[in-house]
Amino acid sequence: MGPILLVAFLAKIAFCAARVWNDTGVGTIVFEEAWAIPELPGSFAVAPVGQTGGELAANLLDVHNQRLRQMDENGIDFMILSCASPCIQGISDPKVAAEMAVNVNNQLANQIANNTFRFGGFAALSMHNATEAALELNRTVKDLGFFGALVNDYQQSGPNNDTLLYYDQPEYDIFWQMVTDLDVPVYFHPRSNIPEIADLEFDHAPWLRGPAQEFAVTLSTHILGLCTNGVFDRFPKLKIIVGHLGERIPSDFVRIQDLLLRQTAQGMPMQRSVSSYWRTNIFETTSGNFATNLLLFHKLEIGLDRILFSIDYPYVTIPEGSNWVNSLTNVLRPEELLSLKRGLAIDLLKLND
Ligand SMILES: *[C@@H]1O[C@H](CO)[C@@H](O)[C@H](O)[C@H]1NC(C)=O
Ligand SMILES: *[C@@H]1O[C@H](CO)[C@@H](O)[C@H](O)[C@H]1NC(C)=O
Ligand SMILES: *[C@@H]1O[C@H](CO)[C@@H](O)[C@H](O)[C@H]1NC(C)=O
Ligand SMILES: *[C@@H]1O[C@H](CO)[C@@H](O)[C@H](O)[C@H]1NC(C)=O
Ligand SMILES: *[C@@H]1O[C@H](CO)[C@@H](O)[C@H](O)[C@H]1NC(C)=O
Repeated sequence: MGPILLVAFLAKIAFCAARVWNDTGVGTIVFEEAWAIPELPGSFAVAPVGQTGGELAANLLDVHNQRLRQMDENGIDFMILSCASPCIQGISDPKVAAEMAVNVNNQLANQIANNTFRFGGFAALSMHNATEAALELNRTVKDLGFFGALVNDYQQSGPNNDTLLYYDQPEYDIFWQMVTDLDVPVYFHPRSNIPEIADLEFDHAPWLRGPAQEFAVTLSTHILGLCTNGVFDRFPKLKIIVGHLGERIPSDFVRIQDLLLRQTAQGMPMQRSVSSYWRTNIFETTSGNFATNLLLFHKLEIGLDRILFSIDYPYVTIPEGSNWVNSLTNVLRPEELLSLKRGLAIDLLKLND
């Protein structure tokens, strides 16, 4: 072995030795945890009950203080940070969006660089141009050590901010090719509708805007677009993560499939059933949806080998999520709970590779 190889070999050993993830640990690993930079004021929009706008902003900007302290207090071993919604997906100008994505990713990498034992990153991506998105994903994974990407639903675009880009179209295949080549997951996170749509749809009941209703119905359409437009047939190894226990889709597997089957003659490219992609390509997290009976239904319908714990901090408090997952000792076997809390995450993120 030459000297350079030897140094590289020793460095790898040292890195691995510093970071052993095993199933005897008890701490959790969480995925849908927001972070923001001051240059993206849209991220600080509406604080949930119990937090002032100022507190939400402070929690989003923070990494090493109240966030890490609460991780320690609540047994969270590792947190993947991602840019708070809508992040880059809210920027209609392609050039501004691409530059901001690089800025966000570099800032995130810098902020977590001194504690990669506890923090990881998902890339923010401008989705205006699939080739550029693919190259930025490659850069963040290869050069910054990120674990994948998180997109906030559709990419807003156009001079009037009213063109919506969905990644289930063939022009995004070049992006999905890079995602599968890198073998990293892409998290699909919700965002709000543009005002023209939201006003028409929610003015009669404005409280249904945002996370109570708007987010799930809007994002679930995009996810069903990926399934029905055949993205998983073209990229059988693609890994997508969906939060909030599946954005309601699994509850309707049977009805969705029944009704879709009547439409296959109209040119729908999907080759399998929606539920089958949930067993081969889609992972879901429990973020902000701590409903024990629903989890048990999903265990039967999809299997715990597709379900990961997450919180949705700072929109949901860390103790709320942690107390719930710890309460599951009543309904899950120890090995099932370990898989939910960390085991599956260790595999999906390839933490030991
Ligand atoms: C497993 O991880 C725990 C901490 O999470 C550590 O205390 C223990 O030594 C590890 N075991 C092995 C065999 O690496
Ligand atoms: C990392 O840097 C931040 C900001 O300077 C600091 O607050 C934190 O304590 C550091 N963490 C470690 C593990 O060194
Ligand atoms: C997308 O980006 C690539 C690489 O920068 C470029 O070659 C291509 O022309 C762009 N496509 C469009 C439609 O702008
Ligand atoms: C991906 O990034 C690596 C590391 O920077 C680089 O060597 C490689 O050329 C990149 N791949 C593409 C397709 O740009
Ligand atoms: C589009 O959005 C940008 C950024 O939010 C804003 O500055 C601009 O005025 C908007 N354009 C229109 C036509 O609404």
